[in-house]
Amino acid sequence: MNDMHTATDSGTADPAFRRDVMACFNAERRAIPARWLYDRAGSELFEDITGLPEYYPTRTETALLEKHCGEIADMGGHGKAVVEFGSGSSAKTPHLLRAVEPSAYVPIDISGDFLRDSAAVLQKEFPGLDIIPVEADFMDDIALPDAIADMPKFGFFPGSTIGNMVPRTSIKLLTNMRRTLGENAMLLIGMDRIKSEDVLIPAYDDSAGVTAEFNLNLLRRINRELDGDIPVEKFRHVARWNDNYARIEMHLEAQEDMDFTIDGHSFHMDRGETIHTENSHKYGQRDARLLLRAGGWAPIGEWTDPDNYFALILAEAQPFHDAP
Ligand code: AVI
Repeated sequence: MNDMHTATDSGTADPAFRRDVMACFNAERRAIPARWLYDRAGSELFEDITGLPEYYPTRTETALLEKHCGEIADMGGHGKAVVEFGSGSSAKTPHLLRAVEPSAYVPIDISGDFLRDSAAVLQKEFPGLDIIPVEADFMDDIALPDAIADMPKFGFFPGSTIGNMVPRTSIKLLTNMRRTLGENAMLLIGMDRIKSEDVLIPAYDDSAGVTAEFNLNLLRRINRELDGDIPVEKFRHVARWNDNYARIEMHLEAQEDMDFTIDGHSFHMDRGETIHTENSHKYGQRDARLLLRAGGWAPIGEWTDPDNYFALILAEAQPFHDAP
């Protein structure tokens, strides 16, 4: 995955984590940014999720890349510098690299150790390729390495990570990517489609309980890093489809009235109240195109699986103009 954050030891918690947790439990509507799900344990659990039979996105997107990377490279342009946003383990990248034959590969990830390890593995597979890892949060403004300044860019943002942002944030990110990659850039993005709840709910509430563990791990992280005593066993994982927002929501629901402390502060939750931990927006064909255009990208190619579960969309940087 993409937006990884490394766990810190008890007492040395990330101040931003402390701030977001306190804001969540002091608010009437309890919600916490999904990025905090990804400490080391959370990142490992997410890797396990990607291999679950119910979790279709990873294998569907990988199959799409495998099947269509030649056509994608022909349309997107060979020999450009591939820039991957939130590269994680770079698991899907080799297919694209083999087809595009890039002049350089720039993986961007917030988790430095993970980034360097993945880059080293990839370097063995592509010994002649110039791999230049950039340790950064792709939500921030990113300075690309000077070495690729004059090369045309091919952005890669797989995994439907865009779905974990609300549309306003997605557009901001796409606009930043447009600015970072420059004129004549291409962007290949993975976006998950709207589909039946019969498929969506099991994908986010699997029979082996891995997604439940992934969600509950957030409470364990709070207890560990912020000296909390939240009774984790009294919460249950809930995945629900919010049709109005076209998104899966993950919540943690209190199964009985409870009192607990975090960092010396007391909190109370009533039975049935929830903490909202993640959104995973799904996009219809026109929704996806509209979102890309709003962020400065004109879709020029689209590949989906026979069930239309997942889409890979190729878009080119478009000049900003508001008039018709
Ligand atoms: C990382 N992201 C695209 C995943 C998703 O499907 O929204 C995160 C996830 N949450 C629960 N399962 C997977």
